[in-house]
Amino acid sequence: MEFSLKSGSLATLKTGCLVVGIHDNGALSPAAAVLDKASKGAIKRFLAKGDLDGKLGQMAILHGVDGIAAERVLLLGMGMADKLDALALRKALIPAAKTVSATGAKDVVFSVHDLESFMLDDYWFSRHAVEAIDYALYRYDATKSTKEKPRALKKVALHRKASSQASTGLAHGTAIAHGIAFTRELANLPPNICTPTYLASEAKKLAKGQKKLSVKVLEESDMEKLGMGSLLGVSRGSRQPAKLIAFEYTGGKKGEKPHALVGKGLTFDAGGISIKPGPGMDEMKFDMCGGASVFGAIKALVELDLPINVVGVVPASENLPDGDANKPGDIVTSMSGQTIEILNTDAEGRLILCDALTWTERNYKPKTCIDIATLTGACVIALGSQAAGLLSNDDELAESLLEASQKTADRAWRLPLWAEYDEQLKSNFADMANIGGREAGTITAACFLARYTKTMRWAHLDIAGVAYKTGAEKGATGRPVSLLVQHLIEQ
Ligand code: BES
Ligand code: MN
Ligand code: ZN
Repeated sequence: MEFSLKSGSLATLKTGCLVVGIHDNGALSPAAAVLDKASKGAIKRFLAKGDLDGKLGQMAILHGVDGIAAERVLLLGMGMADKLDALALRKALIPAAKTVSATGAKDVVFSVHDLESFMLDDYWFSRHAVEAIDYALYRYDATKSTKEKPRALKKVALHRKASSQASTGLAHGTAIAHGIAFTRELANLPPNICTPTYLASEAKKLAKGQKKLSVKVLEESDMEKLGMGSLLGVSRGSRQPAKLIAFEYTGGKKGEKPHALVGKGLTFDAGGISIKPGPGMDEMKFDMCGGASVFGAIKALVELDLPINVVGVVPASENLPDGDANKPGDIVTSMSGQTIEILNTDAEGRLILCDALTWTERNYKPKTCIDIATLTGACVIALGSQAAGLLSNDDELAESLLEASQKTADRAWRLPLWAEYDEQLKSNFADMANIGGREAGTITAACFLARYTKTMRWAHLDIAGVAYKTGAEKGATGRPVSLLVQHLIEQ
């Protein structure tokens, strides 16, 4: 979608649809008041009928209102004026954008940022609005034979006086929205299309013609030479060869150490020999969402042309049962030399990540390293679909990620990494087991990774609950691309 800023008198704006806010108990927002005056009270007369009282996300469309040039006016409930934060804005704008896109309007102007009490400045308003509207307009149809009819809506404008803050917010929002859409598309693709090999080819496509972005792909033979016994063990049960994809983005000074993003790219997780139950297993195509979020963040980074160095590393594999697959009791040797007793083949994410983390550490010596993974069902139980689990060996990095998560409304919540939890990984036969028992599953998974990141400023985001939705709205969310890019913008 194309986004822009537009100013000028609301009543005379020529547009397919003009969106203005109505507050709780029907109070007109300043923009709605302007339209009410121009239409000699038509807005108030409509509200008096009782169809809309301004609760967050409520909507009504008025057509051809006398005195207003716009073809349609969408009255949008914005809730309590003093509660209008980023999340509330998203909750109002997402359904509104969907409603507009279902009409024949070719363009739309949103005039909802006109309140004294609004909690967002010009930058954050523009950025959140663009991210939310673009999110709402995303459609998946790559594997449908009957495509939805093309939508009429081509242009979205925010009614704002042009300011450098507003236009930076718009530019950042647009780049991030493109990254999010890319992440969602990769994650939504079926696992027979989106294989490790497919991801590797998409990575090369992304870097093609880009001066500041290059891609390296390690094949299984390379992994063998590097001693990545843990990653290779997971891949052994699959007919699709594993790939280790590494983006190198060099926007910063030559020789300056990069920031690293490492994303779990399990393109399908059946659990292996410790096979998962059948119902809902299709959703394990989303087990590459961490990897997909690295793709999305890198795409956004290139579009933003950020002046830093970043590497994005995605270990990609399937986890399937097979005569040659990992068995419970198997012991593998990771690239770091540490041995791992595989007590449950379904705890495979950490097994591919540990080798990717060691490789990242040795190859790049990054300034910071963030891994992103749909790692544990326990995280879904603990935090649900609101917040990603955040675990880190560095308080400063953790704080900065928490702050970024608040600003972006891409929430994360920190959990502890105390030594007592690490003891749950004890094995009688290897340096560690790959599971730590029933208790604190998200934390023990992170403790496992922490054994591979000791020399780095490292943080882990468990996105099992936030990366995708289940049920009627099944599909990838593109989280936590906004959070990751915000973190990088601030570097
Ligand atoms: N990919 C799953 C985690 C997952 C579960 C993501 C549900 C999204 C929704 C991961 O590979 C896994 O299977 N983890 C196991 C670990 C256990 C065996 C210690 C889990 O969470 O059950
Ligand atoms: Mn698993
Ligand atoms: Zn998994």
